Formats: sequence, structure tokens, C-alpha cells
Amino acid sequence: MGQSSSSARIAEELRREIAGLAAGSRLPSTRALVERFAASPVTVQHAVRALVREGLVESRPGAGTFVRRARPASRADLSWQTAALGAARAQGAVVGSTLQTPSDDVIALHSGYPVDDLLPVRAVQNALARAARTRSALDRPPASGLAELRSWFAEELAEATPATGSAPTAADVVVMPGGQSALSSVFRSLARPGDAIVMESPGYWGAIAAARQAGLEVVPVPRRPSPAPSTGHGWAAVDPVDLAETFERTRARLFYAMPHFANPTGTSWTEADATALLEVVRAHGAFLIEDDWAHDFALDAPVRPVATRDVDGHVVSVRSLTKSVSPAVRIAAVVARGAARSRILTDRVVDGLYVSGVLQTAALEVVSSPAWHPHLRRMREQLRTRRDALAGLVDELLPPGTLTSVPRGGLNLWLRLPDGVESTTYVEACARAGVLISPGPEWFPAEDPESHVRLNYSGPAPGRFEEAVRIMARELAGLQRLRER
Ligand SMILES: Cc1ncc(COP(=O)(O)O)c(C=O)c1O
Repeated sequence: MGQSSSSARIAEELRREIAGLAAGSRLPSTRALVERFAASPVTVQHAVRALVREGLVESRPGAGTFVRRARPASRADLSWQTAALGAARAQGAVVGSTLQTPSDDVIALHSGYPVDDLLPVRAVQNALARAARTRSALDRPPASGLAELRSWFAEELAEATPATGSAPTAADVVVMPGGQSALSSVFRSLARPGDAIVMESPGYWGAIAAARQAGLEVVPVPRRPSPAPSTGHGWAAVDPVDLAETFERTRARLFYAMPHFANPTGTSWTEADATALLEVVRAHGAFLIEDDWAHDFALDAPVRPVATRDVDGHVVSVRSLTKSVSPAVRIAAVVARGAARSRILTDRVVDGLYVSGVLQTAALEVVSSPAWHPHLRRMREQLRTRRDALAGLVDELLPPGTLTSVPRGGLNLWLRLPDGVESTTYVEACARAGVLISPGPEWFPAEDPESHVRLNYSGPAPGRFEEAVRIMARELAGLQRLRER
């Protein structure tokens, strides 16, 4: 057993013992503990230092180590803050359930971040180690990001831009510490508190929260449900007429959308949707904020970002590497033109001055290595297998019509629950039975007119999909029986 695991074991045993001792009791001497645990003095001292750090014991030089008096629980009166702060911008618990860290025994279908099996683990570790040995570990990078990384992001868009289009360059890119931060910056930079922002509904909970935190009023416009769920076009796009009316009614100048493999529905705009909706945006002198979050997760259909159609700065595109490189390498980019880009850069500088150069260097090495595209191909193959397995089980074991579509990309399945089954109650029942899934209401800026849940197929236990869906089926039947009584 190594020194750190031995000292952890000794600390654990002493913790249990201390719980039964009165304050002021003396702990046995180091020599006595060395004998009792058959450990070295260094290991014992290590364990005791951990207990001191935790505030359970205190060392009195020359006298020994003593159990500390329990401090009375803090009863500070913080009620004055209610009056000082007033109403909160974001209501309730704003952090999506997708961020909860589960224990090992549950089946986690709730999270949004792919597990190690789907990540370029070795490449990331090597790139970080190499970056740590370069000047990037010490230097302050440019506020807009490393030039080579900005060129890489611009080139990715330029490759998909038609010859007649207007391809972005590195000068249009601002590097951001993750997609969430990018959305917050864009919302703050392009609108003022009190302004409206139009959002597809359902949509990403983090974007809804970021807009509210920026003081914006979120105005939902429904994605149109389609009667042909198996084609992957259910909940396809908002209606251009609805969008135009909403712009006129609210005077909003921002439209946040996920044209490809939207989170949570998995559905995409068609080419015709993109043309029509961009036309409405231009006609209203507005911005389309395109969250290209699933760019790397195009499974059966290619991604052609709407930004590749932009000729005059109406599209602001956000692309993140967090989910495809590593959740620990928080690198994303905003591509924007003109004054919009300058304002976003100003916001970035004011918010955090610049993004860590070590992370930028490591991310650049991973995505520009010859191994990147083979990795993406393998990862997509695994995701397809996972998606098909989970979708097949949902189709087989849950009531007909529950699966809204088999998405052609992204990481999620969107399920519609039978009438009368309330999403949050169902999610809680599944969690008690050991399966974590994401409740529908988190994904709506207003009420969900039906009842939904989201399942993520990039989590840790693809081998337990069947067990998970059987549990979900059992819990669903249980709730339906209760309702019939
Ligand atoms: C649609 C969407 N946009 C943006 C983000 C935020 O991305 P990042 O993890 O890079 O901050 C997420 C994360 O789950 C997301 O699902």
C-alpha cells in the first residue's frame, strides 16, 4: 500500500474515533500510532496533518494533539441581503441538472459531457504536457486569442463557405474560455439589460440562464413539431412568419438558435429553413446567434453552419471544443464581424482579460494534429452505435411515440412522455431507482406544453442502457397506474 493510501486509511480510522471523543481529549502520541498502525512516522504525521486541516484536532507544540471543541453552527443573520439584493435576475435553481455529479452506482444519462472513451485522452494529455514546457506556460497571450488558433477556427468555417460567399478570417475570431462564457459575452455585448432576445423553444438551459443573467427578456418561439418523428425532423425549426412577428412585437435584435442537432431535441434546420430564417433576421436588422455546439457530433448528416451563408455580419457563430477535446480544456470561439466583433472582444477583455495560453496551445495541438480527424471518425462511429442502441431500446420498451426522433447528430434523445405523466415527478422516480435523466422543463424558457425528458447517450455506461430503459419503463408504468387509480 502506498504512503498516501496508508495515511488516508489511518486518517479515516482516527476520524471515526474522534467522533466518539470529548472535546479536549488527547490523541495517542505519534509513537503509539506508529506502533498501532504499523506505519512510518511520516505516514502517521501525514494523517494527523489532514485532521488538523479539517479542523477536527489541533496540535499544541510540546503537549500533543487534541480534539477540538466543536464550533457552534454559524447563525449569522443574512436576511438583510434580501432587501439589499432585490429580485434575482435568474429564478430558482438555475444550474441545469446536467451538471450534477452522480455516484458510481447510478446510470447517468443526464449529463452533457462525453466520457473519456469518446475523447482523445492521450492526445490531450500529451498536448498539455508539451504546452507546459513552452513559453505558453508563462506568457500572456493576445486578448483575442492566439493567432494560429483563431486561424484554425476561421479556416473550419471558410472550408464550408461557398466560393461566392464571404469566408471569415482570423481577424473575425475571438477565443473564449468555453461556449457558455461565449454565449454570456455575446448576449451582454449585443443587447442592453431590458432588451428582448428571441430563442427557439425548447432550447439550451444555459443560454436561457445566460440571457436572463445579462438582464435580457427571453422570448420563446416554438420549434415546429413534425408528424413524422422517425425521419429526425420532429421539432425542426421555428416558423419564419412566427420569427418575423416576434421581432416586430418585441423589437428584439437577437435570435439565439441551434440550427444543427439542437440541444435537447437533436433536430436540425433544413437548407430551406436556414435561407428563410436568415432572410427574416436580415430584414429586421437583427443578429442570428448560431450555437454550433454539436459541430463535431454530426453523425449521419453534415454540418453546414448558417454562418457560412453570412455576407454582412448578421450571423454571430459560437463553436466550442469543450465536448470534443476535453471538458478540462475550456476553449471556444466566437466568429463575428464589424462593431459586433469589437464589442464582444471588449466584453472578453473586461470580463477576464484573456484566455489561458496553455489551454489554447494544447487545444490547437490536438485539433491540428493528423490524428484529429481519424479520432473524430472513431468517436462518431461509437456515438452512432450508442445512439442506435438507446433509441432502439426506447422504441422497444417505452410506449409508442415516446421517442420524438432519431437525431442525425448531437448527443441526446428527446422523449415525449405519455399524457398525464409529469416530467419532474418521473425524473425523480427514475433517480430513486438509479437512473439519472434530464427533466424537460429545464429546456423551456416558458412552460412545456407537453411533458418531456432528455437522455444523453455519451455518458459512462453504454453497457447498462438496457437496464436503464427497463427501469424507466417500470417507473413510467408505475406512475401511469397511480394516475388511473
Ligand atoms: C447547446 C450548448 N451550447 C453551449 C454549451 C456550453 O458549452 P461549453 O461546455 O463549451 O461551455 C453547451 C454545454 O452543454 C450546450 O449544450
